[in-house]
Amino acid sequence: IDELLSEGVAGRRVFVRADLNVPLESGTITDDGRIRAVLPTVKALADAGAKVVVASHLGRPKGAPDPAFSLAPAASRLGELLGSAVAFATDTVGESARSTVAGLSDGQVAVIENLRFNPGETSKDDAERGAFADQLAELADLYVGDGFGAVHRKHASVYDLPARLPHAAGHLIATEVGVLKKLTEDVQRPYVVALGGAKVSDKLAVIDELLGKADRLLIGGGMAYTFLKAKGHEVGISLLQEDQIPAVTEYIERAEKTGVELVLPVDVLVSPEFPDLKTKAPTHPTTVAADAIPADQEGLDIGPETRKLYASKLADAATVFWNGPMGVFEHPDYAEGTKAVAQALLDSRAFTVVGGGDSAAAVRLLGFDEDAFGHISTGGGASLEYLEGKTLPGLAALED
Ligand code: 3PG
Repeated sequence: IDELLSEGVAGRRVFVRADLNVPLESGTITDDGRIRAVLPTVKALADAGAKVVVASHLGRPKGAPDPAFSLAPAASRLGELLGSAVAFATDTVGESARSTVAGLSDGQVAVIENLRFNPGETSKDDAERGAFADQLAELADLYVGDGFGAVHRKHASVYDLPARLPHAAGHLIATEVGVLKKLTEDVQRPYVVALGGAKVSDKLAVIDELLGKADRLLIGGGMAYTFLKAKGHEVGISLLQEDQIPAVTEYIERAEKTGVELVLPVDVLVSPEFPDLKTKAPTHPTTVAADAIPADQEGLDIGPETRKLYASKLADAATVFWNGPMGVFEHPDYAEGTKAVAQALLDSRAFTVVGGGDSAAAVRLLGFDEDAFGHISTGGGASLEYLEGKTLPGLAALED
């Protein structure tokens, strides 16, 4: 983007593909981290006199307008953060978008409606995606890719549009890639990875890659129960992906052979019922050993011994990557495991990267000062796929 700015963007329409996919509760944004993350790019362009057209997806609407997925709340939050009015187009490439963009003065910012309201955005058909990208291209003279959270998606605005306009990477993408490179090239050791989250299937590829790269892997969250089951333990009614047991068993064996320390919970908090995340009513969990989960109970967080164990495994790390909460942190009864990992990262002198989505939101929602962490990535799936060594469509398109 610096090159673009030095060439001059005054009076030019710049399409900024951001990731404003923020969590919403009844229309209210509960974590605006992704909006704040794109501010440096939007501000730099506006200050340089560009007409800035910000676009993003939000959630997974079905290729048609759906008020529940409107970007309007994100647009007004962007305006508050910029300290200036932001115009909002109620469609993506229709009359509203065209007239809103045509009405922009130099230095003004507009947000167009959720790109996924148009089926062309996510289509697997190259021609359909291309046709939507052609329409988007009419709204701008230049393209800046800054939606790091979406660079792993081969979508029209991420992959096809940059091929149609002079393009550059924004500040956020440059920062994210710079940081993730430190985990893939010449990493400082010990390199410890803490992985949580619900589904082990989402993490298989990254575990596969990390078994050859990390020194220690700490497993928590819902995915831990598939590991415990693969070790021969009963897991009661805990989240379990039976079909993933063979893959997980192979990872456990490979870790032993290659000397990667694979650390599993030694105790867990269990309850007969999943907690109510709306009322947050108390559930009175009990702590049990990880190899003694009762048949009628569900594991919902790592236990106190595991918290201590994981903190000790993080204490001497030189580099840490953390992705995924350790338990159902949205309920206070099951937030301690995730808090303990976050605190251990703050206490260690390691270079720390918190990878995306839920873990980034957890850090903020649990009241931690995000600036105290090395880097909080705005990309969940994107940061995992980067670490897997995959070619990410949204980055490849910008490199051309
Ligand atoms: C994310 O939340 O990880 C990104 O915004 C991508 O969203 P998606 O998984 O719906 O493509």
